[in-house]
Amino acid sequence: MKPVKVGICGLGTVGSGTFNILQGNAEEITRRVGREIVVTQIGARHQNPACDTTAIDTTADIFAVAKNPEVDILVELIGGTSAAKELVLTGIEHGKHIVTANKALIAEHGNEIFAKAQEKGVMVAFEAAVAGGIPIIKSLREGLSANRIEWLAGIINGTGNFIMTEMSEKGRDFGDVLKEAQELGYAEADPTFDVEGIDAAHKLTILASIAYGIPLQFEKTYTEGISRVSAEDVAYARELGYAIKHLGIARRTKAGVELRVHPTLISQKTLLASVNGVMNAVMVKGDAVGPTLSYGAGAGAMPTGSAVVADIVDVARTLTADPDNRVPHLAFQADSLSNLEI
Ligand code: HSE
Repeated sequence: MKPVKVGICGLGTVGSGTFNILQGNAEEITRRVGREIVVTQIGARHQNPACDTTAIDTTADIFAVAKNPEVDILVELIGGTSAAKELVLTGIEHGKHIVTANKALIAEHGNEIFAKAQEKGVMVAFEAAVAGGIPIIKSLREGLSANRIEWLAGIINGTGNFIMTEMSEKGRDFGDVLKEAQELGYAEADPTFDVEGIDAAHKLTILASIAYGIPLQFEKTYTEGISRVSAEDVAYARELGYAIKHLGIARRTKAGVELRVHPTLISQKTLLASVNGVMNAVMVKGDAVGPTLSYGAGAGAMPTGSAVVADIVDVARTLTADPDNRVPHLAFQADSLSNLEI
């Protein structure tokens, strides 16, 4: 069977993680999909020393990737909303399936993008847009699909949680920790998105849309960041048996779905209170399953790359599936199963 061909636009933190996972885990991925996934072209202004792209066709013109007839899946990892939106719409116009990690793009322009994708009969996948490596969108869409979701609450910005943890545990200065988060590739290009809660509001908007089947409504989310939380606030809270966590909360109410992002006092005895550093966690309460908790790294090259590649695998599997012979529970293709070598 012919390989599935991928064009990656953007070779920054997430782009490098995505590329390196596709290269490093190629054999495992082929067994899961039933055919090879190859990176056909990369669109990036700069090379990334973390990636060996010598054998790959590389161009500075990202729109050439979106129009490349060889590309089946366009992976948008350039970030921002203007060029990214144009790129994704161009890709859809040219029949490409889209995988993106861009929460701002989906939260603010997702309704338009999905409508266009539906018109053209292509898929748009965005697992990496929320909570880095945690498969929370797949969990809401698939694993919890039997439930009426009552509420969800999560730590969904790694940079903010990293800053709050370092301030609280090591008494470090806000600005110093933010600088470190930027160096580690956790923070947004504009870090005010992290510290003023905008990034978390983008993610909450997406989660609520999937959980409640509502349109994306970023502008209706109450948004407050962590920039006004002081080391004293954190110390007092701790003395009283609380932690301050920056939460995104979606709740079904009689009036509709309530969406809010703000620093929240939570008992130190709760599971969310022990989620520290760049880690994210999302609690979801379904009427049938009760409370569930998903936990993992919320930012960084490899965790976010893991979610991007999972979407590429999903799209590739769907393209590969024989509609008359679908076996949805198979994680690996039957003819690739082998005995465990110990
Ligand atoms: N700036 C984001 C964060 C990156 O810190 O969570 C991952 O979405």
